[in-house]
Amino acid sequence: MEFNIALLKGDGIGPEIVESAAAVLKKIAVKFGHKFNFTPYLIGGCAIDAAGKPLPQETVDGCLASDSVLLGAVGGPKWDDQPGENRPEKALLGIRSALGLYTNLRPASLFPALRDASPLKDEIIGDGFDIMIVRELTGGIYFGDRGYREGKYGSEAYDTEAYSVTEIERIGRVAFDTAMKRSKRLTSVDKANVLESSRLWRKTMHALAEEYPEVEYGDMFVDNAAMQLVRNPRQFDVIVTSNMFGDILSDEASQITGSIGMLASASLGASSRGMYEPIHGSAPDIAGQNKANPIATILSGAMMLRYSFGLSAEANAIEAAVNKVLSDGWRTADLLGGGKGTPITCTEMTEKILEAI
Ligand code: IPM
Ligand code: MG
Repeated sequence: MEFNIALLKGDGIGPEIVESAAAVLKKIAVKFGHKFNFTPYLIGGCAIDAAGKPLPQETVDGCLASDSVLLGAVGGPKWDDQPGENRPEKALLGIRSALGLYTNLRPASLFPALRDASPLKDEIIGDGFDIMIVRELTGGIYFGDRGYREGKYGSEAYDTEAYSVTEIERIGRVAFDTAMKRSKRLTSVDKANVLESSRLWRKTMHALAEEYPEVEYGDMFVDNAAMQLVRNPRQFDVIVTSNMFGDILSDEASQITGSIGMLASASLGASSRGMYEPIHGSAPDIAGQNKANPIATILSGAMMLRYSFGLSAEANAIEAAVNKVLSDGWRTADLLGGGKGTPITCTEMTEKILEAI
């Protein structure tokens, strides 16, 4: 089969990890007899430098014309003083919205070889965990009304969390359907004891739960969920939550898998076109040093094959190769967590995975 893939390398370690993942996809294409055409577009700080804005129209058009998008990461200290509207991060929210990608799947599971990299005790890890975080991606406080106004203590800044029944229902359906395909357990995370938007979220989820009697459904407050993730991650299967809570909880969930450098994500909407990106950021502190862990981006490439192209055997081949390389003991610096052992570089890790495929 032939597919056109837009590459949004972005900033910091973005170019290194996207090139690694593209190399892996090319290898898969050769091995399985497909053709993947890659076209790079600018996004984030590099787009500000080259075109004066973080999300050029050409990038949006290029992504819309492609079958799927692979993204690295955006942002860095160089652009921290940009006004809110022109920040690199705004481009990421903008492209998600422009492509209608309201669902963000963030799988957090433990590769057995990485048990020692997890900060959790052996008895908490047990026989491992496998959590799917379903994060709402185009609504809530990241997209709500914001600005400055006069308040009780003078000038103040504000952001607004707003969710409609329609938005909650559509992400809720994805979550219930996902749960049906897994172990049929779903936890909806909110802050319904305080937030009105969360009370609507909960009410809407409860109505949906009636349609899915086979799914064992539960609500959890976000503060409790943050605690439960490290106390007993094995209680979770699918978690559905809002944009901001999902952003925060997925970083937490990633660390218990060993490193934030491991977590892939798929952003999906109504069409088969998705955007695939690691959940981590641009790591400007290690950019250009060949130290980054490319695995989250490589696994995001596997998710692209599975979710957008329907190529499960190919996706499995990537995941098996990552598993083999980790089982053989190869580690990038983040996976050693300051512990013993010699780290390999981003390119070496990529080579090992290519060999294993
Ligand atoms: C993520 C990131 C982004 C987000 C930032 C960079 C805008 O943290 O993908 O988790 O908040 O979604
Ligand atoms: Mg995040």
